[in-house]
Amino acid sequence: MIDFRAAEQKDAHYLIDIDIKCFDDAWTPEDWRHVAKYCVACVATWNGAPVGMAVFYNDFMGSIEIVKVAVKRPYRNMGIARRLIFNCILYARELYARRLVMIVPESKLRPGEPDDLSEWLKALRFRVQVPLLKDYFTFYGEPEDGVVFTLPVPLT
Ligand SMILES: CC(C)(COP(=O)(O)OP(=O)(O)OC[C@H]1O[C@@H](n2cnc3c(N)ncnc32)[C@H](O)[C@@H]1OP(=O)(O)O)[C@@H](O)C(=O)NCCC(=O)NCCS
Repeated sequence: MIDFRAAEQKDAHYLIDIDIKCFDDAWTPEDWRHVAKYCVACVATWNGAPVGMAVFYNDFMGSIEIVKVAVKRPYRNMGIARRLIFNCILYARELYARRLVMIVPESKLRPGEPDDLSEWLKALRFRVQVPLLKDYFTFYGEPEDGVVFTLPVPLT
């Protein structure tokens, strides 16, 4: 059975495992220290064990930035990420933030390719915001542009 709750200290090794299994460029221990200091996270659990996570922070300029959303492969396409995003919306409402923001590497916006995110973002009603963020990411030493997606936070 799937449940959703705020992440706790005891979830740390599950979150690291989700990250490693979902991203080629998983966070380093230093990245995790930064995340623990500045971000909040919610988890989706399957029979009590986290299988998905959303990590986000308040930018204090009206936005909640979602830094990562990930769901372990066997649990995908069950609506888990949609519900994690809904939890971000609830958090945003509590803080009177007006929108969710997600910055996505350009290489993950290629419809038809296995790790394309554009259809998923469209299904969740995120919209592209211009301009592109030039060289926002660095993958294996190579710079890559970031595409800003936003979702207005519904009032109710
Ligand atoms: C992207 C990701 C988080 C989606 O998780 P998920 O739990 O499978 O997504 P959901 O089941 O909530 O999908 C929500 C909607 O998006 C659609 N969708 C999900 N993945 C999709 C894909 N790869 N292509 C097209 N549509 C997709 C679903 O069909 C669903 O639409 P519906 O509600 O109209 O049926 C997951 O694939 C993942 O962890 N990917 C690797 C990490 C990553 O790239 N994260 C995002 C950037 S930080």
